[in-house]
Amino acid sequence: MKKKIVLIGMMGSGKSTIGKILSKTLKLNFIDADILIEKKCGLKIKKIFDKYGERYFREKEEKIVLNVLLNDKTPCVLALGGGAFLNKKLQKIILKKTISVWLDANLELIYKRCKKSNKRPLLYESNDKKIKKTIKNLLKIRNPIYSKAKFVVKTNEEPSKVCDKILICIKNLI
Ligand code: S3P
Repeated sequence: MKKKIVLIGMMGSGKSTIGKILSKTLKLNFIDADILIEKKCGLKIKKIFDKYGERYFREKEEKIVLNVLLNDKTPCVLALGGGAFLNKKLQKIILKKTISVWLDANLELIYKRCKKSNKRPLLYESNDKKIKKTIKNLLKIRNPIYSKAKFVVKTNEEPSKVCDKILICIKNLI
């Protein structure tokens, strides 16, 4: 396997969980972009948003993910934050140089997974109905962009099954 495998998709689609299983199965390093950003900034994502705002976060995200994509030559499984693939510069490189997989989760699943977590700054809403509406709006904008990924895998199954489906998609590229 020479190329990086990049997992894209919405918050709560399982990128980190599935990425860890996939990297173990393929004996590759696993990089979680959000964790890397937190390490480099010395702050949790929530704090970065609170203190410096989304724009600052996006700048850091671009710089740090670009560095992994361009300067780190080792093959790995890279799980991106839900907004990273919307960045045109990152998107172009990911589509050109990596094996991209969109973990396609539906509204209900994302809502169920995200509503209890207070780790996601884009979903700070006063009530559950508003959270669902925000997710719905984000999906409307993002799904057509995520769909540019090389492969699409539905994530409404347990992680190991999703991982098996990814392995089937990429088997000829390994
Ligand atoms: C974001 C998703 C988060 C994190 C940040 C912004 C987004 O990552 O990068 O809160 O724009 O969808 P996860 O997809 O891992 O939750």
